[in-house]
Amino acid sequence: MKLSRRSVLKLLAAAAMMPVAGAGRAERGRVLRMEVGRQRLISDAYPETEVWGFDGVVPGPELRYRQGERLRVTARNALPGTTTIHWHGLRVPNAMDGVPHLTQAPIPPGGEFAYEFPLHDAGTFWYHPHDHSSEQVARGLYGALIVEERDPIAVDRDVTWVLSDWRLNPDASQREDFGALFDRAHEGRMGNTITINGKFTLKDGVFEVRGGERIRLRLINAASARIFTLRFAGHAPQVIALDGQPVAPHHPGSGEIELGPGMRADVVLDCMQRPGSRHDVSDEFDPRVSRRLIALAYRDEAPLRASPPDTPVALAPNPLSEPDVARAERHAFLFQGGAMGTIREAMFQGRRVPLAKLAREHGLAWTINGGAIKERAHQPVLTLKRGAHCVLEMRNETAWFHPMHLHGVVFRVIARDGEPTRHREWRDTVLMAPRERVDIAFVADNPGDWMFHCHVLDHQAAGMSAVIRIA
Ligand code: C2O
Ligand code: CU
Repeated sequence: MKLSRRSVLKLLAAAAMMPVAGAGRAERGRVLRMEVGRQRLISDAYPETEVWGFDGVVPGPELRYRQGERLRVTARNALPGTTTIHWHGLRVPNAMDGVPHLTQAPIPPGGEFAYEFPLHDAGTFWYHPHDHSSEQVARGLYGALIVEERDPIAVDRDVTWVLSDWRLNPDASQREDFGALFDRAHEGRMGNTITINGKFTLKDGVFEVRGGERIRLRLINAASARIFTLRFAGHAPQVIALDGQPVAPHHPGSGEIELGPGMRADVVLDCMQRPGSRHDVSDEFDPRVSRRLIALAYRDEAPLRASPPDTPVALAPNPLSEPDVARAERHAFLFQGGAMGTIREAMFQGRRVPLAKLAREHGLAWTINGGAIKERAHQPVLTLKRGAHCVLEMRNETAWFHPMHLHGVVFRVIARDGEPTRHREWRDTVLMAPRERVDIAFVADNPGDWMFHCHVLDHQAAGMSAVIRIA
C-alpha cells in the first residue's frame, strides 16, 4: 500500500487517539472516519455544501493496495445514524461484506467496526455504506479502492475519476428529498449537478494532459441513479477492464464508455492530439442532450512521443473460477413493476396486494419473480450449493434501466436477448436496458448470504433487492 505523507500522519494521529490493548498500528490498519463535512462542490461563487464523507471529504481517500495484500480498515461512525462499509466488487468473506442485519450489525453512531480480508483480485473497486445507502451514498459517502496488479501495465499516469451527481438547491445545499416515491418508481434520484472527484467541472473544468502521454484512466460511477455514456472527442480509449476485471483490450464499437451506477471501466487513453488543443469529454447517455463534462487540455509542450507506445495493455486475469455453462443449473429472475409497468399487483407477505397500495404503504415499486420484497427481508430467494455452476436468466419487463449487482462473486455476462456477448466480460454489476434479457454465469464458490440488487439505490430501497444464499 502506498501512503502519502498526509495519510501516514492521519493514520498515526487516528491510531494515537484510539489505543487498543495488544493491537499495534499494523493490525488496526487504517481508520476511516465517516463524518459530516463541508465541501465546495461548484465554484467560489457558491457556498460550500454539507456532505457526508469518509474522513469528511468526497470522494473519500483513495485506498491503494497490492494484489495479495490484506485490507485492514476500521470504520468509525461519526454520522448521526447507523452505517456500514461495503467493498463493492471485492470477493470478501461474508462477514466482511458490510450489509446491515445480514452480515453484520449496523455500526451505531459513535461505534466502529474492523474490516479485514485478503485481496484476491487486482482492479478498480470502490467502497460505500450499505445502510440507508440511497441517502448516505447521495450525501457523498464513497471512495475508490484500487488493487494494483503484481505486474502492472506500463503507463505514464494512473488516474482515477469518481463520477457522481448531486441534487442541489440554488444555494448549493443538498435537497433533503431522499426516498421520494416518484424517484423510487421512475429512474431513481437523479442529481442536477455532476461532479468528477467531488468537483463540478461542467462549466470550464479541464484535465491537463501532455501530448504523447499514455494514461490509465479508472472510471467509477458512484452516482445513485445516473448512467454515464462517455465520449472522448478526438480520442479512442481502449477498454482493458470492466468492474475491475480484465477484458480483452478493445475499442468499444460506439467509441463510448457506458457506466451504470456502481460500474467501473479501466481505459487506456493515448493522448495523440496537438499541444495546446482541447477536446471535450461528454456524456451522451441522453440522445437529446450531449453534456460536456470536462475537456482534455493539451499542455503547450513538446509531445512525450510521436506515436502511441507499443507496450502491451492486456492485464493478467484474476484467479476466478470458470463457469461451465453447458452443465450449469439455470435460474430465472423476472423483474417487473415501476412506473409504466405491466403488472397491477404482487405477492406480498403471502397475499396478492395491488401495487398502488404497496407503494403507498410500504414504499415498494418493484417485484422480483412476482413478489414484492421489503429491503430488510433477508430470506433467500434462491439457495445455491457451494461450488455449483449457475446461470441466472434475468428478464427486465420494466420500462427502466437497472444495473444489477451481485455480491460475493463475479460473473460472466454471457448473453443479451439470447445473443452471445462478444467479450463474455466478467462483471459484478450488469446494466439491463428496458425489456432486455441478460444471462450471467458464475461458480457459486463463496459461501454466505449475498445481496442481489439494483444499484439505482432508490430502486434497491423500493424492492429491487434480494438475497441469494450459497451454502
Ligand atoms: Cu455497491 Cu450492494 O452495493
Ligand atoms: Cu433498478
